[in-house]
This record gives sequence, structure tokens and C-alpha cells, in this order.
Amino acid sequence: MRANDPFSACEKNGLYKAIFSRRDVRSHFINKEIPNDILVKILNAAHHAPSVGFSQPWNFILIKANEIRQQVKDSFVREREKSVSMLDSDKAKQKRYLSLKLEGILDSAINICVTYDPTRFGPFVLGRTSIAETGVYSVCCAIQNLWLAARSEGIGIGWVSILANEDLQRILSIPDFVRPVAYLCLGYVSEFSDKPDLEKTGWLPRMGLEEVICFERWGRHKTDSWEQFYETISKIN
Ligand SMILES: Cc1cc2nc3c(=O)[nH]c(=O)nc-3n(C[C@H](O)[C@H](O)[C@H](O)COP(=O)(O)O)c2cc1C
Repeated sequence: MRANDPFSACEKNGLYKAIFSRRDVRSHFINKEIPNDILVKILNAAHHAPSVGFSQPWNFILIKANEIRQQVKDSFVREREKSVSMLDSDKAKQKRYLSLKLEGILDSAINICVTYDPTRFGPFVLGRTSIAETGVYSVCCAIQNLWLAARSEGIGIGWVSILANEDLQRILSIPDFVRPVAYLCLGYVSEFSDKPDLEKTGWLPRMGLEEVICFERWGRHKTDSWEQFYETISKIN
């Protein structure tokens, strides 16, 4: 196989299967450890993500200790309380929100905090000179690689963002200049749902692809020069 050949049908199927069957998982974790070689493999997949200026600005803090997880869970509980109060004017939505399971901090095999270090290979980072957020975007690319690689291994990941970053900095001794980007709960699961939990419970629907594509400028959803492409999109829904 030449380096520029497309993937074989089987390889493509594997990639698309990982993409479409990846789920954010907060329940259905089973009591099974993640072997070290698998953990290393999926972390290495994360470490091979694209990054602005090849700055590789990520770190992965691996957490097993229950006393640390419990402190993170306490932060979740406090932050969830705050978010619940934001829904005070809509009691029905508040009730639905409270019925959702939004984290698996204590139930999962391990937790990983993924951080962004803006000083890595800096201060001049090629490509980050105009858009500072490209550093965080790079970390998000690593997280997505991790998420997909984990899915291919049968490992579920849930991203918990209902947390105070100051709590994470303190609990995990993260220096001030480093920013926590994601707090992830990983573990083998008994099932991957076919749809996002938030779609299943009716919180929000998945939008149609055509709703998020514009032609030539913001907001133009139809134009003659893209007519055939538009028809092709409408066939996938
Ligand atoms: C940046 C980010 C933060 C998220 N934070 C949470 C969270 O705090 N709790 C939660 O249950 N899910 C969280 N999620 C998961 C989303 O709810 C989930 O990705 C979305 O509903 C689509 O479902 P799927 O990932 O299964 O396709 C987060 C996802 C992202 C990308």
C-alpha cells in the first residue's frame, strides 16, 4: 500500500464505526480494570493529535485514588447546585435536568484530567500568534483522539464539565499557568447507547446536517451553484 492510498473498505468502516458509535458515557460502567497496555495505546493516540505549531500543549493526569475522585465529585455537586438554580424560572426543565446522570466520577475505572500548558515550546508558538485559543483547540483534538481510540477498545468516556476549574487546580496541584480543559471518566461499559443520552431523553434533538452547512457565506443554506451537493446532503438524513 502506498502512503497516499485511501484506506481499504474495512479500515474505513472501522474509522466511521468509531466515530458514529462513540458516546459520552456516564453510566453502565462495569467493574473491570483497563490494562496498562491498552491505556498507553489510547493515550498515545491522544498524543498523536494535531497541535498548533506542533506544540503538543497537553498533559494527562491519571487518577485512580478514591479520595481525590471524591473531592472532584464534591466540586461537581456544588457546581450542579449552581446550574440547577439557573433554571429556577422553569421548574419542569429543572426537574428534567436533575433526573439526568451527568458524571461517572466514582463509578468509572479511572479519571483523566487533560490540561493545556500555554508555555510549552513558547512563548512563540508557530500558528498561535493571531488566535490564542488554537492552543486549547489542540488539546480538544487530543481529547477526541482519546475518545475514539477508547471506543474502538470498548472503553467508554464521559466528559464532566460541571466542575470549577479552581477546584481542579487545587485538588490536582495544577499550577496557575496551566489550564484544565477536560475531566474524563473512563471504563469498560456494558453497552454503548445508539444515540446520545440527551437525545434519548428528549433534552435536545440532533440537528440535520443541512442545517449546519452554509454556502459561500454565513447563513446561506441554499444556492444554485451548490444545488447538487445540497441534494446529496438531504439523502443522508
Ligand atoms: C466540552 C464538553 C463538555 C461536556 N460536559 C458534560 C458534562 O458535564 N456532563 C455530561 O453528562 N456530559 C457532558 N458532555 C457530553 C455531551 O453531553 C455529549 O457529548 C452530547 O450530549 C452528545 O452525546 P454523545 O457524546 O454521546 O454523542 C460534554 C461534552 C463536551 C464536548
